[in-house]
Amino acid sequence: MKSLGVLALVLTAAIAKAQSTTIVSIWPYQTFVTEPNLRPPIAALNKTGDTAPGHIIFAQSGRVGAEQAGIITTENGQLLWNSDPTLPKMSTLTPFVLDGKKVLAYWTGISLDSRGDDYGTVTIIDDSYQFLYNITLADPDLQLYGVYPSLLNSHEVYITDHGTFVGLSYDAIPWDLSPVGGPTEGWLRDGVVYEIDIKTNNVLFKWRASEHIQITRSRDPGHSQRSGFGNSSDSAWDYVHLNSVSSFEDGYIISARHTFDAIYVSKSTGNVIWRLQGEDGGDFSLSPGAAFRWQHDIRLERSRGELLLHLHDNENNYTAPYNATTGKLIKLDTEAMTAEEVQIFAPSYERLQASSGGSYQPLRNDNVLIYFGSQPVIKEFRRDGVEIYSYRFGPSDAPTNPGVGAYRAFKSEWKGYPITSPKVSACRNSNGTVNVFMSWNGATETKSWNIYSGSSQSNLKHKAATVKKVDFETFATIPEASFVQVEAIGGCSIHNETRLSDVVAVSESC
Ligand SMILES: *[C@@H]1O[C@H](CO)[C@@H](O)[C@H](O)[C@H]1NC(C)=O
Ligand SMILES: *[C@@H]1O[C@H](CO)[C@@H](O)[C@H](O)[C@H]1NC(C)=O
Ligand SMILES: *[C@@H]1O[C@H](CO)[C@@H](O)[C@H](O)[C@H]1NC(C)=O
Ligand SMILES: *[C@@H]1O[C@H](CO)[C@@H](O)[C@H](O)[C@H]1NC(C)=O
Ligand SMILES: *[C@@H]1O[C@H](CO)[C@@H](O)[C@H](O)[C@H]1NC(C)=O
Ligand SMILES: *[C@@H]1O[C@H](CO)[C@@H](O)[C@H](O)[C@H]1NC(C)=O
Ligand SMILES: *[C@@H]1O[C@H](CO)[C@@H](O)[C@H](O)[C@H]1NC(C)=O
Repeated sequence: MKSLGVLALVLTAAIAKAQSTTIVSIWPYQTFVTEPNLRPPIAALNKTGDTAPGHIIFAQSGRVGAEQAGIITTENGQLLWNSDPTLPKMSTLTPFVLDGKKVLAYWTGISLDSRGDDYGTVTIIDDSYQFLYNITLADPDLQLYGVYPSLLNSHEVYITDHGTFVGLSYDAIPWDLSPVGGPTEGWLRDGVVYEIDIKTNNVLFKWRASEHIQITRSRDPGHSQRSGFGNSSDSAWDYVHLNSVSSFEDGYIISARHTFDAIYVSKSTGNVIWRLQGEDGGDFSLSPGAAFRWQHDIRLERSRGELLLHLHDNENNYTAPYNATTGKLIKLDTEAMTAEEVQIFAPSYERLQASSGGSYQPLRNDNVLIYFGSQPVIKEFRRDGVEIYSYRFGPSDAPTNPGVGAYRAFKSEWKGYPITSPKVSACRNSNGTVNVFMSWNGATETKSWNIYSGSSQSNLKHKAATVKKVDFETFATIPEASFVQVEAIGGCSIHNETRLSDVVAVSESC
């Protein structure tokens, strides 16, 4: 047994059981003696420069290990937290600050198709991974194809500085598609923006894309490719595909993927204040380097007196020729109405072509974290565009056939203090010594472990060893014993610095 503990490398095509379905993993994953249900991917890493502090956070999907779970690891790929794989699958796991405290928010719900038509709930949990709020949407104005418990779409999970939620819903509405050569009695998939009070679920703002963005602006060929234009999920034309919205100063900045638009909308009137279009500039004159297509995750920031817009520029839909995907930082001048690239964040030694998903996160030290959507790769760049870090958690896939992925990924100085107890497992070697495995899912601050042993359950006074925490699951060998218990030291909570596991009997053989 290696001192790392059981970090078994299960190779391509190994069969793993997860959630009672048998899946074929297409990427190696970790397994643990103390947490047999957790199977996080093993990260392929390449760090070549000074990265920002923090841990990696994403909700992984696809055919690896436990298939779909919230994951937090260190920058070195060491697991810190894996969401309970028996709970509903989550998406868009994102760290935020709410009421001055660090929280995690994520979406769960029902997916109707692979292009993101879904209905669900956004859940917020605290730094002990305990439930805080469910954000739900019920809006009788939405027409839809069925009855769902909550109507929030997975494409946005965003908590504002003022403690509200901003997100999306997709609607299906009858629409005259003749201006684009479709049927007069067609169906449109509309995008609806909401701001919602987290504690009451009251809708504070609502904005429908179809009232502001004409169908003739769509770059999606769906109106001619979909059959029938009936009222099912698959046949309403996804003409606009809103995929990000956040609050910025007196407005909302909205990404419309299928019209290549960044739209800034007034909070008080809902009117479009300006529109930046990725090919022709819209209201702006656009420098060639600032062009974008099929983008994700558009945000605004004001930095050193400049208005900056950043985004994940997919440059791909689902049709070849596939283009290189990059992160883009664009300077906007809303007097001269110009948009010009400040930096393009492009992978230095591999070409990544993401047909869907992706994110752009500015980090505290001015570095930038880009997640390449349907390609399972997170990269960190210096502000001057130099790539310094890469974290891959799945194989390189054809842009049309993503095997492992996430929607977005983040870096955060997350500290977790679980209310659960640490886990321990122990077995006897043939020479009588005892192997002890210990872990504590979600505890980011544990530095070392005390191991207590004894001959009976009620007599565990003997401290057999104190060992440094070396990975998610720490391993140690102690002298002969019949019962063991472990104690996590450090950072178990802000107030209580140690926590004990249950007492377990040593199993007779390893
Ligand atoms: C690691 O990153 C450096 C710098 O970006 C690059 O030159 C090198 O080829 C990468 N190594 C691997 C194994 O990918
Ligand atoms: C929150 O919403 C999820 C998803 O609908 C549901 O499973 C869970 O029971 C809800 N929790 C509470 C406390 O309402
Ligand atoms: C959708 O079509 C079905 C069958 O054509 C019909 O029964 C149903 O009422 C329609 N739903 C809406 C929202 O129009
Ligand atoms: C890739 O870029 C070329 C040239 O800019 C463009 O014509 C093509 O449509 C792009 N491909 C996709 C899938 O967007
Ligand atoms: C992808 O975009 C290109 C233009 O960039 C278009 O010709 C093609 O039909 C699109 N395909 C899909 C599946 O959206
Ligand atoms: C006892 O056996 C284990 C497992 O083979 C080994 O790691 C350990 O070093 C041995 N200890 C002694 C004291 O022989
Ligand atoms: C501290 O942790 C120990 C061991 O888990 C527990 O018995 C004790 O009640 C805790 N004390 C406080 C103040 O939370």
